[in-house]
Amino acid sequence: MSLSISFTKDTLPTKGSLILTATDGGKLSPLGKQVDKQTGGAISRAIKIKKFSGKAGAMFALLAPAKTTLDRIVVLGLGDGKKLTAADAEKMGGTALGTVEKADGVVTLLLEPAGNKALSDADIAARAATGALLRDYKFETYKTKGKTKGGPSKFVVATKAMAAARKNFAELKAIAEGTIVARDLVNEPANILTPPEFAKRAKRLSKLGVKVEVLSEAKMKKLGMGSLLGVGQGSRQPSQLVVMQWQGAAKSKQPVAFVGKGVCFDTGGISIKPAGGMEEMKGDMGGAAAVTGLMHALASRKAKVNAVGVLGLVENMPDGDAQRPGDIVTSMSGQTIEVLNTDAEGRLVLADALWYTQKRFKPKFMIDLATLTGAIMVALGQDYAGLFSNDDRLAEQLTAIGNQEGEKVWRMPMNDNFDKMINTPNADMKNIGGRYAGSSTAAQFLLRFTNKVPWVHLDIAGTAMGSPKSSISRTWASGYGVRLLDRLVKAHYE
Ligand code: BES
Ligand code: MN
Ligand code: ZN
Repeated sequence: MSLSISFTKDTLPTKGSLILTATDGGKLSPLGKQVDKQTGGAISRAIKIKKFSGKAGAMFALLAPAKTTLDRIVVLGLGDGKKLTAADAEKMGGTALGTVEKADGVVTLLLEPAGNKALSDADIAARAATGALLRDYKFETYKTKGKTKGGPSKFVVATKAMAAARKNFAELKAIAEGTIVARDLVNEPANILTPPEFAKRAKRLSKLGVKVEVLSEAKMKKLGMGSLLGVGQGSRQPSQLVVMQWQGAAKSKQPVAFVGKGVCFDTGGISIKPAGGMEEMKGDMGGAAAVTGLMHALASRKAKVNAVGVLGLVENMPDGDAQRPGDIVTSMSGQTIEVLNTDAEGRLVLADALWYTQKRFKPKFMIDLATLTGAIMVALGQDYAGLFSNDDRLAEQLTAIGNQEGEKVWRMPMNDNFDKMINTPNADMKNIGGRYAGSSTAAQFLLRFTNKVPWVHLDIAGTAMGSPKSSISRTWASGYGVRLLDRLVKAHYE
């Protein structure tokens, strides 16, 4: 990470760029007024001239302001400081950094008491710093020319609540870093991030105290994972199952489990996808990336929980050895599946990964993340992940946390009629439903491999990749899911 973050109590810097905040109606804070005085009232005049609203995200900058030694003063709208959520505070930090993209050197964000009931001033400051870190992330590994140069090197948050802010940030930083781990994985092209390479990167988590095992194809074959292996059988790359374990609580404590779809590239297989936009399918491992980022976050903040992360890593390719439409495979659960469309491969991978997870770990719950269906994007767009569950409490917890954290979920229906849609005369089930409710029939399929363990499926096809630029996310990959699940664990399972 190139941007260094720090906190200070010294609220009136004399060098670099200073970012002041204003609330609704363009009202400056007490210290803001002090700075305004120093400039001979230039800031308040600018607020008038610009009819500055002070609403969240609005901003203007004064360059080389007279009578100061500052490079610039930026006035950033906060909206109603009393109503900021954690997600708003992060956005504010990201926007703040964005306003000084071209500024060299030190940037100071000056925060004053917000009088917010839900968030302390320390929380707001720590969240703003987190937002700045996320905003700063770039994916420039493969650029030999034209890499970003210059820009802020130090982001200082000035707040009276410095000590507490520093402490809160130490924990939140783990989320930002985990999110960046996930983004890096999703942004990587598929010629680099093959299943073995992904497994190698997951192994890096052992430095943080995570136990990482990699199951080979031979091992998976012994376990009877015919469903997962069928997907990878047309690829030159061997499939891998990665099992990560973080033990942050007593050994006897039941773990929570996270399972990720890791299709490193999805051509569709023999049911091949159209050429246009196929490159996007390098991101079809977004679920596995989120689980890896989450385990990274949990371990680096030493979460007091036992957590398991399982990744089903495969490449879905057309080939002489590839599985054919109509093939019937036997999953580890013993249930047989007629593969009517080789492009509905994610559920085939998850079927064995979920079954393995519940069988080996007897977890308190399982949450899987998967870029599973195009249909979820049709239904929910890119702001909400689709949530499917057999457990109302988990669903409600995730919905509430998603709203607070800005990684939103929307619960989608499951029922017996959707379940019937995946029956087939030739085997226990088929891997596609029909024209309608494609995301729900996919979820029903997964449910058949959960063995009644409390379970949530998050369809993140719309949220993990092809992400629109936001104040805290500037690349194709958002890193969706890391924060949502880290905060779920923190709020309810530590
Ligand atoms: N990985 C895709 C889903 C996807 C589509 C993710 C677009 C991100 C963006 C998945 O494997 C897939 O191909 N699903 C099919 C299922 C269909 C064949 C039943 C789909 O959604 O079209
Ligand atoms: Mn597919
Ligand atoms: Zn896929």
